[in-house]
Amino acid sequence: MGMHSFHYQNGSLHCEDVDLVSLADTHGTPAYVYSANTIRDHYGRLDQALAEIDHGIEYAVKANSNLSVLKLLVEEGSGFDIVSGGELRRVIEAGGDAGKCTFAGVGKTREEIEYALAEGIYCFNAESEEEVVFIDKVAGEMGKVAPVAFRVNPNVDAKTHKYISTGKSENKFGVDFASIDDAYARASKLANVRLRGLQMHIGSQLTSLQPFIEAVEKVAPLAVRLKDTYGIEFFSIGGGVGIVYDSALESGPTEWWSDQDEDQRPLTISQYAAGVVPVLKETGLKILLEPGRYIVGNAGVLLTRCLYEKKGSAKTFRIVDAGMNDLIRPALYEGHHDIVPLRESTGESSMVDVVGPVCETGDFFCQDRELPDFAPGEAIALLSAGAYGFVMASNYNSRPLPVEILVDGGEARVIRPRQTMDDILASEKSAMLS
Ligand code: LLP
Repeated sequence: MGMHSFHYQNGSLHCEDVDLVSLADTHGTPAYVYSANTIRDHYGRLDQALAEIDHGIEYAVKANSNLSVLKLLVEEGSGFDIVSGGELRRVIEAGGDAGKCTFAGVGKTREEIEYALAEGIYCFNAESEEEVVFIDKVAGEMGKVAPVAFRVNPNVDAKTHKYISTGKSENKFGVDFASIDDAYARASKLANVRLRGLQMHIGSQLTSLQPFIEAVEKVAPLAVRLKDTYGIEFFSIGGGVGIVYDSALESGPTEWWSDQDEDQRPLTISQYAAGVVPVLKETGLKILLEPGRYIVGNAGVLLTRCLYEKKGSAKTFRIVDAGMNDLIRPALYEGHHDIVPLRESTGESSMVDVVGPVCETGDFFCQDRELPDFAPGEAIALLSAGAYGFVMASNYNSRPLPVEILVDGGEARVIRPRQTMDDILASEKSAMLS
């Protein structure tokens, strides 16, 4: 199951067996819609690709943290990579096991460390020695021993957008490769810390294999050395597997990673596995992965309705009811999202900018793009919006957060109702100057 989860049927775009035209009519726009079977399918593909090594998948909660999405992944057996106490709370609310959580991030607070220790997380992935010293102190006060791994910065160029590249020395992430042995040596002397693993993550939306191979080959010998010296049990290679954002629909979301037409895919999951598994197998360690985008990115779309067509002297603008506050990726990372009308195109097309209602020049979804025609009143879909979409949405311009809907076969379920202005105003009203 899961093939072509977003496809045209009887002239309208469907998610699995659900007609998105009627979904947009019923629930309004903007609306995020996710395909449950695509999420399951992607999880399964990755799990399968790694079958020959001892491994664990730690879904990166930051990519899409809706409780129902997490619940679905709990059911698949996933662990979770979290970056805040809030994300841990979400995993627990979704029925997940804290003992299968790794806790990343450069700025963990005392409250977050205490919470994670109390819940018994699998491991803190620490980003500095200072942090480990602090974790040791907090653990000591609680009469606990904290499981800790260091994140090593392998100084590898991930060749992705500079805002989502993390594995170079100039990035704030991890401990320099040259200092890592000393960091472990000093941490091994702390009384309330147990060295459990080694972690790395070189960036997000990587579309070639080479940086992964380079990083794994560089860091695997270190992981083995740490296993022999300190008895660490896991090596996490992070997330970062990129997805196809361009010409998404033609190939079908789950097909983008299939093994057909390998030459046309920038990086398939089996190529990824075939590249890294041989090196990882040699380490004899449990291998963890922290995929976010790969699992949910192509499993979601943002539905929005065209409000106006504005013909300027230089350009034609199609103004839609979603804005950069709903999906910030184009504005922040120059991210590309395919745009398709929900009613199957008649074949006519024209060069347009699709823009939102927010008062910012950066509030656009595409510029000078040849798009199939759609008219005011019609709904369209921004594709590949399942990762870093809703989670990065804000109330800028006092715009309520969109509804989130999960489709599973023929069922569509609201998994987060559209926010109301009353929701937005409640806490301020109770605190308002009198
Ligand atoms: N592990 C760590 C330590 C991370 O920092 C990240 C993502 C992941 C795993 C998951 O990476 P993924 O498999 O999703 O590439 N908002 C940006 C992406 C930020 C990624 C942050 N870290 C975007 O929309 O492109």
